[in-house]
Amino acid sequence: MTTAKPLDVRSVGTSPERLDGPVKVTGTAPYAWEHPLRAPVFVQPLQAAVVRGRVTAMDAREALALDGVLAVLTPFDAPRIVDTGDAEMAVLQSDEVAFRGQFVGAVVAQTPEVARQAADLVDVEYEVWPHDTEFSADRPDLYRPEAVNPTYDTDTDDGDVDAALAAAPFTVDATYSTPMEHNNPMEPHTCVALWEGPDDEPQLTLYDSTQGAHAVRTTLAGLFGLPGDRVRVISPHVGGGFGSKGMPHAHNVLAVLAARVCAGRPVKLALTRQQMFSLAGYRTPTVQRLRLGADTRGRLTAVCHDVVEQTSRIKEFAEQTAVATRMMYASDNRRTSHRLAALDVPVPSWMRAPGEAPGMYAGECAMDELAHACGIDPVELRAINDPESDPETGRPWSGRHLVRCLRAGAERFGWDRRPEPGTRREGHWLAGMGVASSTYPGYYFPGSVAEIERRADVGGRADGYAVRIGAADLGTGTWTALSQIAADALDCPFDEVHLEIGDTAFPSATVAGGSSGLNSWGSAVVSAARAFRDEHGWEPAPGARTRTGVESADGGPDYAVHSFGAQFAEVRVNTDTGEVRVPRMLGVFSAGRIVNPRTARSQFIGGMVMGLSMALFEESVFDNGTGHVVNHDFAQYHVPSCSDVLDIDATWLDEPDMQANPMGSKGIGEIGIVGSAAAVANAVFNATGIRVRDLPVTPDKLL
Ligand code: MOS
Repeated sequence: MTTAKPLDVRSVGTSPERLDGPVKVTGTAPYAWEHPLRAPVFVQPLQAAVVRGRVTAMDAREALALDGVLAVLTPFDAPRIVDTGDAEMAVLQSDEVAFRGQFVGAVVAQTPEVARQAADLVDVEYEVWPHDTEFSADRPDLYRPEAVNPTYDTDTDDGDVDAALAAAPFTVDATYSTPMEHNNPMEPHTCVALWEGPDDEPQLTLYDSTQGAHAVRTTLAGLFGLPGDRVRVISPHVGGGFGSKGMPHAHNVLAVLAARVCAGRPVKLALTRQQMFSLAGYRTPTVQRLRLGADTRGRLTAVCHDVVEQTSRIKEFAEQTAVATRMMYASDNRRTSHRLAALDVPVPSWMRAPGEAPGMYAGECAMDELAHACGIDPVELRAINDPESDPETGRPWSGRHLVRCLRAGAERFGWDRRPEPGTRREGHWLAGMGVASSTYPGYYFPGSVAEIERRADVGGRADGYAVRIGAADLGTGTWTALSQIAADALDCPFDEVHLEIGDTAFPSATVAGGSSGLNSWGSAVVSAARAFRDEHGWEPAPGARTRTGVESADGGPDYAVHSFGAQFAEVRVNTDTGEVRVPRMLGVFSAGRIVNPRTARSQFIGGMVMGLSMALFEESVFDNGTGHVVNHDFAQYHVPSCSDVLDIDATWLDEPDMQANPMGSKGIGEIGIVGSAAAVANAVFNATGIRVRDLPVTPDKLL
């Protein structure tokens, strides 16, 4: 939060087309793996074929004899890394296997084909140990993590929930579950590593598909004991991430190990879609018990949300599933908890709206159940319980417009035509409507720096401004929207801004995560532009340059900064097959100032489609015998196709939140997914009278 002077907007709020559009649609945008580099070599990883145990021997003789094979890396002879504290990243530093699919070696060869053939020839012997991958909420060994992502309290307890529940005339006590789900960006996780220079002063260059080039640099420099300035990460274009590219993963380390062995040659590594299911993070499965109590007028008297989820035995990641429940509705008695099962499974990580997405699914379905129990319209129930200030911190809201979103959405969606549950039959279809609230914190991460330079062409004539910051564009429209912010901050035409991002050669930028990117980088750009004008005036000489970070955030009043939204869905359920169709979805959001309506709409709708996907399709089916996800490809891991997404629209209350940052923006990358799965599931209940509490809502659960 900042009290910095608001930005006067001119370009912000308009919808220039994506600056990166032409290079992307013509296939000339270089993604990580595609950078044209001289004489590259290729890595084929070897993955553990057991769930838990130890590699006792690796025979690489046949592989090494193959023409074109340069090296085989094993846990016994791979280069050592300096910091092995993070077991996910300590690749090939031990002979132990902690989950199926973990890296146990790699082949480096002249071509990807030879590398793959050689990998098949490496003979790996294991000592097999017993394993435990069974996720359940009834385990005796569930434990309480230190904190949940990133630093929230694990548990909260206010008032007397048990007494309030016992006294409440209306209660809901329901358990919901969400499955393991996998981030599946279009572009898989890829990187190219190049290790050059003398042993005592090496230089590492990484072309990576990442949401944060500087974060990758910091992590890899630490792992390999290199000063930051000896590592450069380049990442101009990224084909989606959804959180899985928010931090480096084991494949980055494997590529660097291979580059170290093949020093001087660019080493290319692209995970296959199937490999991503073990190695790039995933959303933990959850079991969530919701208990709500309300008085006769529908006012909440108790809210209790208890979450069980899993982590890997080698690394803790606790998704903040119940955190949104802490601030969502007014109630004097509120309790939340998170418990983890540590299993022999791959390491979970961020996936779009970690915490809010599964937590608001359960919480907003429970609100729907409460509305039904009280006989109160679900929109009204939410309005009745809208808190005047943040129930958790007591802080005033910087702008909570949830009820306006709900009412505007209800009007536009035709909510008054919603039937009684299970009563609207049209031939072989039952039809219904559902609603859910949405929320996401307005994150701002400090630490970004931007550089502005007056450009000159060869003749010395001034040619706009170079704006440099190591930010990332995952395909979200950052390139365009951040250029709009820069143009307004410099008070110059949009086309005079030449934004350069995605490279640690540019000033440091925080990660594109938590929907914080534009808030954080935009604040730095505004700050740098103001400093540039102060220093160089309105007719700066070519080459005039200023680099600075964010203005002081001191002295501002302390507000609770969150975005809100209302999600509406209409469904049709086939009474013979159980098939669910979603003919209409509408989201009405309040997310501060919308910088570029064109790209914002696509972010909102993309999130809502991912929520539809969560509601009906996505489920990583984990086999406890073999310890891996059996449906590890797009043939079997289902996501919506165009024919599943029908009339879907997103709109917003365009209200700058000037407590958030100089732009008044609050971030939009994640709120679209929050609540959308609940809206669909609630609509399924309204259509059929069947309450499916375990996602995804597949036909078998409706017959
Ligand atoms: Mo998002 S899951 O915070 O990249």
